[in-house]
Amino acid sequence: MKHPVLPLKPKVAFFSTQVYDKVFFEKYNIDFGYQLDFFDTQLNEKTVKLISNTDVVCVFVNDVVNEAVIKQLAERKVRIIALRCAGFNNVNLEAAKKYNLKVCRVPAYSPEAVAEHAIAMILTLNRKTHKAYNRVREQNFSLNGLLGFDLHGKTVGIIGTGNIGKAFAKIVTGFGCKVLAFDIVTDSEMEKDGVTFVSLETIFKESDIISLHCPLNEKTKHLIDKKSLSMMKEHVMIINTSRGGLIETACVIEGLKEGKIGYLGIDVYDQEEKLFFTDHSEDIIQDDAIQRLMSFPNVLVTAHQAFFTNEALTQIALVTFNNIESLLAQNDIDNKAALLV
Ligand code: NAI
Repeated sequence: MKHPVLPLKPKVAFFSTQVYDKVFFEKYNIDFGYQLDFFDTQLNEKTVKLISNTDVVCVFVNDVVNEAVIKQLAERKVRIIALRCAGFNNVNLEAAKKYNLKVCRVPAYSPEAVAEHAIAMILTLNRKTHKAYNRVREQNFSLNGLLGFDLHGKTVGIIGTGNIGKAFAKIVTGFGCKVLAFDIVTDSEMEKDGVTFVSLETIFKESDIISLHCPLNEKTKHLIDKKSLSMMKEHVMIINTSRGGLIETACVIEGLKEGKIGYLGIDVYDQEEKLFFTDHSEDIIQDDAIQRLMSFPNVLVTAHQAFFTNEALTQIALVTFNNIESLLAQNDIDNKAALLV
């Protein structure tokens, strides 16, 4: 008996693929049946040539999706750029429009995952559990150098009160902190929950802890610079789980050297694409700024792992496939926050 030849399902090419991406996307592709092509390499002007007969490219935070790449994607008949993340500062949306490509993202896969990581950074920097862990293993039970402060009663300033900022506000409210927020839009629900919306300047002046949760764009680039640092309290704690470009690294290094910044927790770094998501333990790192940052005892660097929970990776895979399915079927997505172009 002759079997009917079934049409092949569209092909999705993944860039910057990690082992866990393959695990989660292959698992949830069972319900979609796409052809999946995984590339370890970053998408950029050179690697775009790897694409053939592909309908969709699936990219992550450090892939380069500028006009030159988009032009080549269009020439190769790619129809959709599917971001498997929330932030989209690495994609030139104007160019995507110009070349008639659809762009989608996963707007809120697990805001709690990122908010909870920001909290983990605050608690680690404050109570120095990483140092305590190592100390007691060496049978050093001394407390000298581990002194922290109560979070209860401290003023926490949140910049950007979208999905993640909101989730973060709920947690710090639970700690008994006074919560200030700045966003281009005021959230009345949050105000009812006790959050006070203030100017950016007031955030800088009054906060003991400042946590960044706004996107990186022309307005927010280098939000933390010499001028904003000069307004801040002595020994302020700054937490950045958003995008590296929000911080002007050289100014922050100066702030740490002068003692103005008492604690810095960064899950993102403006030159991270050369380092993060890869094992460089055998390499000579050429980036002096990150080496200087990592040398401070009051700086905690994590390698863009705030999103990295089981729940988040499940949602990322499911929402990405649903976005692709909607765009292929109806050129639109019901969840408007997911559709960028
Ligand atoms: P969202 O879109 O829900 O919220 C962003 C908020 O920032 C909005 O309320 C918006 O009005 C506000 N905003 C925009 N421009 C602003 C400005 N100039 N000043 C102050 N606020 C401004 O985004 P979501 O999901 O809360 O994510 C926030 C950021 O977190 C993303 O843009 C992304 O860069 C980052 N992120 C980091 C992850 C990690 O693993 N480290 C994972 C997911 C997101």
